[in-house]
Amino acid sequence: MQPLFENKKGLITGVFNKQSIAWAISEQIFSGGGICGFSYMPDKPDDERKKNFSRVSKLIEGNPQAVFVHPMDVTKDEHVENLMAVAKEKLGGLDFLLHSIAFAPPDDLNGDTIDTSRAGFKLAMEISAYSLIALARAARDILNPGASILTLTYYGGERPVPGYNVMGVCKAALDSIVKYLAFDLGARGVRVNALSPGPLQTISGRGAGVDEMLGLYEAMAPLGRNITHEETGRCGAFLLSEMSSGITGEILHLDGGYNIMGSPGRMLDQIKAARS
Ligand SMILES: NC(=O)c1ccc[n+]([C@@H]2O[C@H](COP(=O)([O-])OP(=O)(O)OC[C@H]3O[C@@H](n4cnc5c(N)ncnc54)[C@H](O)[C@@H]3O)[C@@H](O)[C@H]2O)c1
Repeated sequence: MQPLFENKKGLITGVFNKQSIAWAISEQIFSGGGICGFSYMPDKPDDERKKNFSRVSKLIEGNPQAVFVHPMDVTKDEHVENLMAVAKEKLGGLDFLLHSIAFAPPDDLNGDTIDTSRAGFKLAMEISAYSLIALARAARDILNPGASILTLTYYGGERPVPGYNVMGVCKAALDSIVKYLAFDLGARGVRVNALSPGPLQTISGRGAGVDEMLGLYEAMAPLGRNITHEETGRCGAFLLSEMSSGITGEILHLDGGYNIMGSPGRMLDQIKAARS
C-alpha cells in the first residue's frame, strides 16, 4: 500500500502546542508522506517573545514536509483570505484542510448555559462554528477534486454535558454546518466531516472540564478506558485521506463507545456497591 498522504498537500489550523489535537493529526500526515502548511493564532503586539509563533515554529523546525507557518485569527476575514493566498502560493491546491479551532470566554464557559452573555455567545459561535464556513469558503477555489475538510466536535453538542455549556451549543451548530457544507461541496467531490473525540488533555480541553471527564469515560465507556492523542491523530488522518473517500457529512465518535451507552454501564456496579 502506498503511503496515505503521498503527493498530498494541505492546511492545518489550530496547533497551539504539542498537546493540540491538530498536532496529533499532523504527525500522522507527516508519517504518511504529506506536506503541510500551518496557521497559528497571531501573537499580541506587546508579546515580544512571540510565544504562539515560536511554539509552532519549534515543532516543525527542520521538517521539510512543513512548508509555512502563517498567522490567522479566524474572526478576521482578511486573515483568512491572506492565509489561503499563502496556501495557494506555497502549496498550489489543497488536498486536505483541518479546522481545529474553538474558543468561549471562560466566564461564559464556566457559568450555567442560562447565564451565557450575549457577547460571549456571539464570540464563541463565531470562533467555534462560523469559522468552519469562513475557512471552507475562502478555500473553495483552491480545493483539489476529492479534497477533504475535517473539523473537531464533541458529544456535548448532541446531549447536554454539564460544564460544557455554551460550547455544547456551538458544537451543535458546528455539527449542522458539517452536514450543510458536505452538501454544498459534494458536487465538486469535496468531503466535509467531523471527528468527535472523547476528553483529551489539551489547553482547550482543560478549560472545558476535561479533568473530571477522564474518570467518567474510563468508568462508563464500553472499552473501559480513555482514547489517546495518537488514536485521535490516526482517525483524523483517516478522515482527511482518500481511505475515507466515500464518507461525507459524518460525525465520527472516537470515545471508546461512551456515546452509545443508555445507562452508566459498569459504573452501576460502583453505585450499587456504594449503596449496599
Ligand atoms: N481536548 C478535548 O478533549 C477535545 C474533545 C473533543 C473536541 N475537541 C475540539 O478539538 C479542537 C482543538 O482543540 P484542542 O483540544 O486541540 O485544544 P488547543 O487549545 O490545542 O486548540 C485550539 C486551537 O484553537 C485556536 N484558536 C482559538 N481562537 C482562535 C481564533 N480566533 N483564530 C484562530 N485560532 C483560534 C487556538 O489558538 C488553538 O490552536 C477544538 O475544536 C475542541 O473543541 C477537543
